[in-house]
Amino acid sequence: MTTAPVPDPPLPDVDLPPGYRMTTLGEDHRDAIIDVTTWAFASDIPPEVAAAMPFPLEPGRGVGIWAPEPGPDGTPRLAASHSSYAFEAFGVPGGTLPTAGLTWVAVHPQNRRRGLARAMVLTHLHRTKARGEPISALFAAEPEIYGRFGYGCAATSTRLTLPRGTRLRDVPGTKGLRVVLERVDPERHGALVADVHGAVVRPGWAPRTNPANAARVVADIPAWRHGAEALRIATVVDDAGAVRAYALFARTEHWNARNMPEGTVRVRESVTLDAAAARVLWGALTDLDLMVSVETGILAVDDPLLHLLVNVRTAAPTPTDNVWVRVVDLPAALAWRRYAIDVDVVLEVSDALLPENAGRWRLRGGLGGAEVVRVDDEPDVALDVRELGAAYLGGVTLGALAGAGLVREHTTGALARASTAFGWPVAPVCGWVF
Ligand SMILES: CC(C)(COP(=O)(O)OP(=O)(O)OC[C@H]1O[C@@H](n2cnc3c(N)ncnc32)[C@H](O)[C@@H]1OP(=O)(O)O)[C@@H](O)C(=O)NCCC(=O)NCCS
Repeated sequence: MTTAPVPDPPLPDVDLPPGYRMTTLGEDHRDAIIDVTTWAFASDIPPEVAAAMPFPLEPGRGVGIWAPEPGPDGTPRLAASHSSYAFEAFGVPGGTLPTAGLTWVAVHPQNRRRGLARAMVLTHLHRTKARGEPISALFAAEPEIYGRFGYGCAATSTRLTLPRGTRLRDVPGTKGLRVVLERVDPERHGALVADVHGAVVRPGWAPRTNPANAARVVADIPAWRHGAEALRIATVVDDAGAVRAYALFARTEHWNARNMPEGTVRVRESVTLDAAAARVLWGALTDLDLMVSVETGILAVDDPLLHLLVNVRTAAPTPTDNVWVRVVDLPAALAWRRYAIDVDVVLEVSDALLPENAGRWRLRGGLGGAEVVRVDDEPDVALDVRELGAAYLGGVTLGALAGAGLVREHTTGALARASTAFGWPVAPVCGWVF
């Protein structure tokens, strides 16, 4: 399926409180965007970070809402802003899909709770559809925020704390692999990280195509170190010199009152392309002198490491919500992904914000493709677009959502079949927070 992308759709007519006005934002608004974002997130971006980082604003995608009254210097004051990333190849079951990654959502604390976020999300959804991006994805600062706009939590990730010497099961193929430990050189390792990161095939995976985001992951800003050493990288290299895994990490040095070393290895991000590389990488990181533990970054709930652990309890898995998905163009989104088994089901979908998605849709699909048509037939399964978003990447089953009373079965047997079809053998995850 192809779409004709519209690079810069006009702003839709959305309700704003009196006196507020919405415009698109560009590079010229960088300081204003950083100002409202740091107000919203209660964190300053140190000047050296702002200076070192290219700004990840993509052309035509920044949108702001200006306050009725000017700022202290008499110039217009930005009350809220958001942007999105054009993920051209966001991972979905069976392939990839153009996806709008909603990001930089911020409302100044002085202007909150009067509908500015609602106006921005609505704007984002309309422009996403106009661009021919069938779904939107995001990371939620707080899980309470986005369900009301039809986003469903589509992936769970986990983090582990691995004690030093954690026992790992053996896997074949580790013999020819070696670990290389280096200080991060942003240019050289930026390219290496981009290559390995870009080779991952998994629902929910967002390739880091925006150069500013690619630069950020290998940036070693002193203000980000929080007491750790400068950024390091561990790579796993095979006989032929190909990199099969990496971990960006930094150690902390700590000695307890009895003069025992209690350092920690903090992993910023890791990617392993196969089981042998995972075994070698984590074996090396859990065997560093003077360290007592390794804190992993984001891992999928089916990451090979979890299955290599001899005793998973010692690693204290800590799950959290990962990427959220909003189905924006229902027929396009459902027809684009693949289904684990053949399915022929009529879904009755409600969608309060985008009524063109609401109604009855017959989905016929399987591993080879799918088609979706609007019908008047009796529904087999009924659900809200939020639950459709949750199930879209194959990581949350329709059966589980039905168990929670959020999906209803009208035809006996239809739920089990649809639930299996929407599932996928690989758990979804996005390995970096956008
Ligand atoms: C979260 C944030 C964007 C909301 O902006 P806002 O303009 O106050 O939101 P709105 O007034 O449009 O609220 C829309 C609805 O969401 C609810 N809501 C907004 N923020 C919420 C939150 N943090 N928790 C729970 N509910 C929230 C509102 O109560 C309102 O509910 P209603 O539809 O039942 O009336 C803003 O408070 C903010 O910038 N927070 C800090 C940064 C952040 O979390 N950004 C989001 C990044 S993913």
